[in-house]
Amino acid sequence: MRLNFGIACLLAAIAPSQVQAADTTVYRDSTTGFIFAQRLAAYKLGGTITFRIAVPSNASSGSSYDAVIQVVAPNEVGWAGLAWGGSMVNNPLTLSWQNGQNVVLSSRYTTSRSSPPTYTKATYTTLKAGTKVNSTHYQYTAKCTGCTYFTGASNAQKSLNPAGGNQLAFAFAFAKPSSPSSNTSAIPVHDVHSYWVHDFAQGANANFAELVTKNA
Ligand SMILES: *[C@@H]1O[C@H](CO)[C@@H](O)[C@H](O)[C@H]1NC(C)=O
Ligand SMILES: *[C@@H]1O[C@H](CO)[C@@H](O)[C@H](O)[C@H]1NC(C)=O
Ligand SMILES: *[C@@H]1O[C@H](CO)[C@@H](O)[C@H](O)[C@H]1NC(C)=O
Repeated sequence: MRLNFGIACLLAAIAPSQVQAADTTVYRDSTTGFIFAQRLAAYKLGGTITFRIAVPSNASSGSSYDAVIQVVAPNEVGWAGLAWGGSMVNNPLTLSWQNGQNVVLSSRYTTSRSSPPTYTKATYTTLKAGTKVNSTHYQYTAKCTGCTYFTGASNAQKSLNPAGGNQLAFAFAFAKPSSPSSNTSAIPVHDVHSYWVHDFAQGANANFAELVTKNA
């Protein structure tokens, strides 16, 4: 995997303890009403991409449950991706990028360290109330079905703990996908990636289903 070595060294210097418990904080989104577990992921010095996850408070471990993902990224970001299993390979990847006034979401999964193909086992419903582009950022909010329970390495079923920490990862590139209007576009290799422990318990919502309907 290629990595912008200069930026990676800077990130290592400013964030020496990225993999530990409580890398996330609680964020209450007044627009959608969801409570999210939030991670601010540094992609350059002084620049972060925000990854927020909300889950139903009655979700049970070992099964597939829906999750809501909200991402806020500066407009200079070419594409940003979240890896639900904390790795580039063998887990659902939620990619996004800005296309004019729209945000494009793309479902991917790869078994090798190369441009990830599209993936049909994780599907997304964009929640319009939490999706927008302004002069500085793009933001989307979407319900994912299939992000929390998937086939991982060696064909093992992997399920994310709705009531505790899960190691997630992100990647990003400054360069845009070659066909930005298409969610099946080829994407340029990422410049930076990092890992953290995302505490899903911080994003538990008792009224999850109701909020999904309200914001659809
Ligand atoms: C959680 O609650 C929702 C809404 O009340 C319900 O539809 C769903 O079946 C429940 N899920 C579990 C795992 O109990
Ligand atoms: C692209 O968007 C369409 C329409 O929303 C959706 O059916 C399809 O699954 C998406 N493909 C990917 C790769 O995300
Ligand atoms: C654009 O929206 C983001 C949140 O999605 C917000 O943080 C930012 O302040 C907004 N920018 C402007 C200029 O309003």
